[in-house]
Amino acid sequence: MKTVATVSELRTQLRRWRAAGDRIAFVPTMGNLHRGHLRLMEVARGYAERIVASIFVNPLQFGPSEDFDRYPRTLAQDQAALIATGVDLLFAPSVAEMYPRGRAGLTTIRVPGPSDGLEGEFRPGHFEGVATVVNILFNLVQPDVALFGEKDYQQLAVIRQMVADLHMPVQIVGVPTERDVDGLALSSRNQYLSPAERAQAPALYRALQAAAMALRSGRRDFETISSEQCKILESQGFKPQYLAIRRPDLGRPAPDDPQFVVLVAAYLGNTRLIDNIQVNVT
Ligand code: PAJ
Repeated sequence: MKTVATVSELRTQLRRWRAAGDRIAFVPTMGNLHRGHLRLMEVARGYAERIVASIFVNPLQFGPSEDFDRYPRTLAQDQAALIATGVDLLFAPSVAEMYPRGRAGLTTIRVPGPSDGLEGEFRPGHFEGVATVVNILFNLVQPDVALFGEKDYQQLAVIRQMVADLHMPVQIVGVPTERDVDGLALSSRNQYLSPAERAQAPALYRALQAAAMALRSGRRDFETISSEQCKILESQGFKPQYLAIRRPDLGRPAPDDPQFVVLVAAYLGNTRLIDNIQVNVT
């Protein structure tokens, strides 16, 4: 696997593959790779001859009081994991390479609709930062297929909407969430948890499962289900920001909907965790 840090090296490599007629699958990440990220690479293999991954901790998508500076950066370890997974090319640019003019006055992408509410409410500007960097990465890599985790359900919805609205010639593939044996969704932020918090963290997934069970049992009092689970999370030491029942497209649910998604964000100590679960009731 080759690692390149500049746009020109990236383009040189990609030109060769495209000239040979190879399809390109792309997996953007912020690094500190775990089994969830690597699952995306494995699924990518089924879609293309060449797999390109990126590692870029994107300052645009972090709020002023968020963890941009302390976000774990583990390039050597990540490279070893990517080699073992069969990734062909890693693009790991600097902030200056990605945003040579700086942030001020940068062209940005806003995706109203899927960006609104939930994460959008508690992380203002976050999805604008995500959509902007993914748009730049798509322009650079020009992949045939790009893969994203369902772990970040709303992000996946934002990317799908951006691709549709801008007629981008890329197929978006969502990949199911990888979890630890106790149910906790894998996340780079899990390592911020103290041992006691780590032991407590799977309660987040249990709250989602309880909400899913309530829906499957026929309950449709969405607000009550949400507030019950929020209260349980609070009693277990979490500070929930939302636990919401939505339609798969993140619209408000109706009682006769066949599918729902339950999404949660909560602080455990200083660590903000998100998760979601899809529920089929037919
Ligand atoms: P990052 O958090 O590094 O995640 C990269 C990709 O891995 C995302 O598509 C995310 O949904 C997926 N992923 C993370 N944890 C997962 C898990 N447990 N199971 C399955 N997939 C998982 O998401 C970002 O980076 C950034 O916002 C990015 C899209 C790279 C733009 O900067």
